Amino acid sequence: MIDRPRCKTGIEGLDNELNGGIPLGSTVLMCGGSGVGKTTICMQFLVNGNKMNENGVFFTATETVPKLKRYQGGFDFFDEKLIKSGNLSIIDIWSISDRLGLSPERYTAEEANILFEVIRDITKELDAKRLIIDSITSLCFRLNSKDMIRDFIFKLGSSLAAMKCTTFLTSEIPPRTFQYSQYDIEEFIADGIIFMRDVERKGDLIRTLQIVKMRGTSHGRTKFMVNMSSKNGIELTTMLKSDL
Ligand SMILES: Nc1ncnc2c1ncn2[C@@H]1O[C@H](COP(=O)(O)OP(=O)(O)O)[C@@H](O)[C@H]1O
Ligand SMILES: [Mg+2]
Repeated sequence: MIDRPRCKTGIEGLDNELNGGIPLGSTVLMCGGSGVGKTTICMQFLVNGNKMNENGVFFTATETVPKLKRYQGGFDFFDEKLIKSGNLSIIDIWSISDRLGLSPERYTAEEANILFEVIRDITKELDAKRLIIDSITSLCFRLNSKDMIRDFIFKLGSSLAAMKCTTFLTSEIPPRTFQYSQYDIEEFIADGIIFMRDVERKGDLIRTLQIVKMRGTSHGRTKFMVNMSSKNGIELTTMLKSDL
C-alpha cells in the first residue's frame, strides 16, 4: 500500500493517532459545542504549519479579526509577527462578502460560487497549505439549501485538495449532543471528523477530543483529554480508563 503524504498537525497525540498526520489535502470537520477549543486548535494548527514553512489562512465568520487576535493573543503560541510576515493571514469572511456586494442574508447559487472562487483564489495567492473556515455552520446559514451547502463544500474541498491544502472547517453543534453538524450534509462531504466534547466529571467540565473518521488512513479512536493553557495552548493526554 502506498502511504499518502501527510499534513502534520504538530499536535502531539493527534499526529500519532493518525499515523503521522492528516492525509494531505483533506477537508476535516472540527465539531463541538461552544468553548470546547475549536477556534484555538485551528489557530494552533496554522501556527504549527508556519514552523514547518507552510503558510496558513484563517477565514473567520464568527469573531471579528481584532477580537480573534486579542483572544488568541492570550496563548503563547500566537505571535502577531506571523501575521506581519505574511505567513499567517486572518480574513473576515463577511467583510469580503460585503465588499463583493453579496447578499447580507441568503446567497443565490451565483453568489455562493463567487465566494467560493474568492476563497480559492486568495488561498492560491497566499500559497496557503493550511486553511480554516471558522465556522462552516455560520456560512451554511447563508447558503440557501442543502444542495448549495453540498456543492460549496464539495467544490472547496476538491479545489483545495488539488492545491495540496489541508482544511479544517469548524462545526458548531449544541452542547453535549452526538451530532457532528447542523445541516447533516457537512459531515458526509468532509474527509474527516474530529469531535470535541465536554464531559462532566464530579462537577467539573472536562474537554475531550476524538477522531471519528479520516478517509485514506487507518487511525485510532482514543478519547483524549484536552488541556488548555496560555503556555502550551491545546495539549492532548490520554484519559485513564476510569475517567471514560
Ligand atoms: N489564555 C488561555 N489559557 C487557557 N484557556 C483559555 C485561554 N483563553 C481562553 N481559554 C479557554 O478557551 C475557551 C474558548 O476556546 P475556543 O477555542 O474559542 O472554543 P470554541 O471555538 O470551541 O468556542 C474559553 O472558554 C476558555 O476556557
Ligand atoms: Mg470558536
